[in-house]
Amino acid sequence: MQRLLTGLQPSGALHIGNYLGALKPFVGMYEEYESILMVADYHALTTLKDPVQLRQNILDVVRDYVAVGVDPKKALIFQQSEVQAHTELTWIFNTLITMSFLELAHAYKDKEARGIERTVGLFDYPVLMAADILLYDTDVVPVGQDQKQHVEYAREIAGKFNTAYGETFKMPKEQIRKDEASVPGTDGKKMSKSYGNTIPLFGTYEEIQKAVMGIITDSSGESPSNVYNIHRLLKSESELAPVYKANKGNYKASKEALIADIEAVVGPMREKRASITDADVKAILKDGGGKARARAEKKMLDVRKKIGVKI
Ligand code: TYM
Repeated sequence: MQRLLTGLQPSGALHIGNYLGALKPFVGMYEEYESILMVADYHALTTLKDPVQLRQNILDVVRDYVAVGVDPKKALIFQQSEVQAHTELTWIFNTLITMSFLELAHAYKDKEARGIERTVGLFDYPVLMAADILLYDTDVVPVGQDQKQHVEYAREIAGKFNTAYGETFKMPKEQIRKDEASVPGTDGKKMSKSYGNTIPLFGTYEEIQKAVMGIITDSSGESPSNVYNIHRLLKSESELAPVYKANKGNYKASKEALIADIEAVVGPMREKRASITDADVKAILKDGGGKARARAEKKMLDVRKKIGVKI
């Protein structure tokens, strides 16, 4: 059976871009694979330095996984920080790759351009992600378009290690859904926590309504493209055509239709989410952490032997 792994950072409330780009595809395919879903808490530490908030976000993101339909008995759900092998392997990879290789990372360059403090952790982000993926002999990584380069980095790093020390790591492949590769935000740019243009996945009805009503509409066209480009990810073009025809020129009505369609998806999931307690989440993470640690440790024994530190 092939292995599937993906991760989300608990750096803030998940938005519908995370859902459509990464979680929904995961839910649609994970039962056909040996699947792993990771809470990338050490990645989140590159941007979130508030321990109270981080703790809460970790609990919330697991609740989100389960609420959208991931069965923790069928997928291994765990916290990155619970498996020390991730940071250990990052160090080993760090000794193989160059600064100039990491300087090419789009995500880093984008953060640098926006004036975000260039910590060593931010720079090394792709290497930790490579360790996440390679530790578990992952075949497939379902992600949004913005993570494509990071999966390419993982392949490059696997190749470097294998060349230096012999065949050890599998080559992972990203899986990106064409339509949902880059879900637009309320301003038409990629939806992102750091751009402040998100529609929260598990916001209250009022929060979702506020975000959708705030979508920037271009008054020159007949249909509001920023609204439509999100809407078409929830309903087929043939279902939407009559709605947009009837609402021609009336952007408010199109936005109301979008709110209703988001609510139809999120409403039942929100109810399920409310029934998942902190104790449920902690039990899932304890179980998943133990299993992930055992797998990772097995891989690390091989790695330590290959590099020569295991005497
Ligand atoms: P994060 O939390 O930033 O994003 C989580 C997932 O959501 C996708 N995504 C989007 N997809 C479509 N449209 C959007 N507007 C949009 N915004 C976000 C991202 O592509 C991602 O799939 N570095 C990862 C976390 C990670 C990871 C891993 C993923 C850490 N280790 C190992 C896979 C495998 C990230 O960007 O998380």
